[in-house]
Amino acid sequence: MVRALLGDRPEITPVWFMRQAGRSLPEYRALRSRGTMLEACLDPALASEITMQPVRRHGVDAAIFFSDIIVPLALVGIDVEIAPGRGPVFSKPLRTAADIAATVAIDPALVVERGGAVADAVGRTTAMLADLSDERGEPIPLIGFAGAPFTLAAYLVEGGPSKDHMAARRLIHEDAPAWRDLTSWLAEVTGRFLALQIEAGASAGQLFDSWAGGLSPADYRSSVLPASVAALAHARSLPLPEGVDRLPLVHFGVGTGEILADMASADIDALGVDYRVPLDVARARIGRDLTLQGNLDPAMLYAPEPVRTAAVHEILTAGRAARAHVFNLGHGVPMDADPDAISAVVRTVHDWRAR
Ligand code: CP3
Repeated sequence: MVRALLGDRPEITPVWFMRQAGRSLPEYRALRSRGTMLEACLDPALASEITMQPVRRHGVDAAIFFSDIIVPLALVGIDVEIAPGRGPVFSKPLRTAADIAATVAIDPALVVERGGAVADAVGRTTAMLADLSDERGEPIPLIGFAGAPFTLAAYLVEGGPSKDHMAARRLIHEDAPAWRDLTSWLAEVTGRFLALQIEAGASAGQLFDSWAGGLSPADYRSSVLPASVAALAHARSLPLPEGVDRLPLVHFGVGTGEILADMASADIDALGVDYRVPLDVARARIGRDLTLQGNLDPAMLYAPEPVRTAAVHEILTAGRAARAHVFNLGHGVPMDADPDAISAVVRTVHDWRAR
């Protein structure tokens, strides 16, 4: 997985899934029957065990750390909850310039000062992955992650999930200085959250800008990308462990067909592509030879086996256009997907050989 993210082509294409840990698994639902999502994220024993569940069940080639993009905001003291079936909800949405000024006055270093449970959970996970790696005979890395400043800002100013992220898109133009202050601050907060996981032992990092696809390319370039670059810089500037030359960083968003080249211009190694753009088309659009990650439509998990298998093969073939390919879905695993279909995709990917 790590070699592929950095540009090698292992004989077997590595595969992991966004939202592989979560409600599609009965063993997750059993563990999560008590307590809130945020409590689970900040319980090291629980978070590390949930992280391991899909690795054991599906045989994927990486773990993604069980947490949430809003965890660093909770750590610095912002009142946020994850409402089941809805997503992050804030008790005090940032409605005015004064709200934003009060928020950006919070010291981003609190993420690290109060992030002991996150570091502990990462440490426990990498220890469990090392044991499983010995059994499987190959290292299974942990991918750390963070939300990009735009996606976090979209939740913060709206107060919760929204269809069109109008409050955020409006603020960009209505009060450009406040927007810049907010996204610069978010870059510090979320960048430290990502760096914290990597310092604690994660082998790669992914920045999720899930809602960036709602922006015009001009707005993305001028008002959003700089903060994502600043967030990634936190991870990039960490000292590397002995024997490691480069930390693989992935940049992902949904509906980003028009901004793929801009997203690829950050200091990253791999670009996550959603299911709307075939990987060979994405390769042509980005003008840079990065590893591509993706991009089976999650809806294909419900298709009859021959249809699903053909779709996986088509993506593996299109992925040949890039220097290397890491198989994933085009967005997260849906909560009612059949876990056996997910395991079957892993087998199909692992059995495929380029002709
Ligand atoms: O397996 C993994 O991918 C690791 C864990 C992970 C979660 N959230 C767990 C989670 C990751 C990487 C995330 C990132 C995240 N969170 C994103 C970016 C990725 C994406 O999907 O675009 C976003 C936008 C969020 C915000 C968020 N958190 C949403 C929209 C939701 C869904 C709300 C719902 O209930 O449908 C959450 C909650 C959440 N995050 C769950 C999980 C397992 C479900 C909570 C539960 O089990 O009750």
